[in-house]
Amino acid sequence: MSLLFKITYGLYVLSAADGSKSNGCLINTVMQQTAVPERVTVTIHKDNYTHDMVKDSGVCAVSVLDTSTKFDLVKIFGMQSGRDGVDKFSGYNCKTTKSGIKVLADYSLGFMELKVLSTIDMDTHSIFVCEIAESAVFESANQPLSYAYYHSNIKPQPKAAVNDVKNDIWTCVICGFDHDGEPADDYICPLCKHGKADFVKK
Ligand SMILES: Cc1cc2nc3c(=O)[nH]c(=O)nc-3n(C[C@H](O)[C@H](O)[C@H](O)COP(=O)(O)O)c2cc1C
Repeated sequence: MSLLFKITYGLYVLSAADGSKSNGCLINTVMQQTAVPERVTVTIHKDNYTHDMVKDSGVCAVSVLDTSTKFDLVKIFGMQSGRDGVDKFSGYNCKTTKSGIKVLADYSLGFMELKVLSTIDMDTHSIFVCEIAESAVFESANQPLSYAYYHSNIKPQPKAAVNDVKNDIWTCVICGFDHDGEPADDYICPLCKHGKADFVKK
């Protein structure tokens, strides 16, 4: 089991806009850096369509997901790209930030709009250092969605191995998909489409 799975993260939809088109991706990398001034970082893979929207516009928004989140939402925002033309927000109740970015009103405890102050190049990813420009909290009885809660309660569980012996499970660090045995070099995660390099032995 990688120690990375022992660190507590939340799950969020990070959205951005290109003109009138909003898009978003699921991330677990929203981190408060300072409370005064209110600054957070978000880390996004450069392959993600949302990455380019944030880089080009300098503005993005975070929807804080709650424990009522369904796996369908994870699939839409976390396992397919908006580059393919899909409107990921279709079918969800949304709100719009002052800069015109769509955020989720469903399955969300609130949102914050972020202005990018600086960008740290991490080769595969960019870390965007941001200040909070606007925020709203929704009335809800639900709890914030943690990565651990997602793994235990929302993500479909792998089928039990023969005789229920699961001693060689490899887990995708991107989406949490469990693979029985070491993935082949050309293996692609069926959920989030990342390769073997993103799998660790449980
Ligand atoms: C549970 C989960 C957590 C994820 N966390 C991140 C993350 O922190 N950063 C990131 O760049 N992608 C993350 N992803 C992958 C993106 O959400 C995914 O690649 C998405 O399809 C990109 O969509 P886009 O191309 O429309 O931006 C995560 C996916 C899942 C399922």
